[in-house]
Amino acid sequence: MGMSDSPMKVFAGSSHRGLAQAVCDSLGVPMGRSSTVRFSNENLLVQIEENVRGADVFFIQTACSPLHDHVMELFIYIDALKHASAARITVVLPYMPYVRSDKKDRPRISITARLMADLLETAGADRVVLVDLHAPQIQGFFRIPADQLMAAPIICEHLRTRDLSNAVLVAPDAGEVKDLIKYTGRLGLPMAIIDKRRIDDSDTAHAVKVIGDVEDRVCILIDDEIASGGTMMTAAKILRDHGARSVMAACTHAVFSGEASRRLQAAALDEVIVTDTIPVGADKQFPTLTTLSVAPLLARAIESIHAGRSVSRLFAGVDAPEPE
Ligand code: R5P
Repeated sequence: MGMSDSPMKVFAGSSHRGLAQAVCDSLGVPMGRSSTVRFSNENLLVQIEENVRGADVFFIQTACSPLHDHVMELFIYIDALKHASAARITVVLPYMPYVRSDKKDRPRISITARLMADLLETAGADRVVLVDLHAPQIQGFFRIPADQLMAAPIICEHLRTRDLSNAVLVAPDAGEVKDLIKYTGRLGLPMAIIDKRRIDDSDTAHAVKVIGDVEDRVCILIDDEIASGGTMMTAAKILRDHGARSVMAACTHAVFSGEASRRLQAAALDEVIVTDTIPVGADKQFPTLTTLSVAPLLARAIESIHAGRSVSRLFAGVDAPEPE
């Protein structure tokens, strides 16, 4: 349902003000005024500092350090907006908290990604906008509408500026193969797969073998996220061991936890391409890191939702049929 008759307002929490401002700039709207105060007892006080009664509100927050502060701030913002009589609250969550906890793969654990979906709804979210979920079926954890956007078109546009002759797209593990299809179709490149095994909870991934032809090729590793960097580091090594001419890596979410930045530099990748769904601090930057912005994509999605237009039309052609 469109809400063109209601004023559109965009607010943001503390997690990624730079991205939120870029979204506002792309939309040509001012960022809504609000503030968060953190008391000495660690409680947060969020205040919406302008009238949102009857407004179509978009609230931007992402999952990044300090994670639990940002998650609580998210819930408190939604509650504050609801009690301030916003007509509709759409949470724009470029990187969803706990997205990797999406299954019960050992006994007596929480499926925390589903819990996050429940809590967003309980707090008062009417819709949610996400970017490249760890697994697309996480959309089904939400009973409210959940639009998943893709960074693949943005990353492919950048890759096309590079020399792709004799290039191959590489999935660093079998789980990434489905996502890789978004790239092979767009770039018309072949695919290879690394058979990666994890044997424990440590950050060390154990690559076993490569399926596909990588010898003397430009290898482009694609993943949904880089967390500790272990997957990419191991993948780069095994590709080189199999005769890769060069190796670059691309992912949507630059989680860059722990030693990731150092590991990526040690892996001597020609280029590491990420998007700005998560802020990467100055201490984690390095010369071969390229950051592409999803702000224009988020802005187009917000415009579409506000006007009641199709969001999948943003990806029409390759990944979705043209809506009628
Ligand atoms: C796993 O299934 C994901 O797609 C990524 O491969 C993983 O999150 C990367 O983690 P790390 O950088 O810690 O190896």
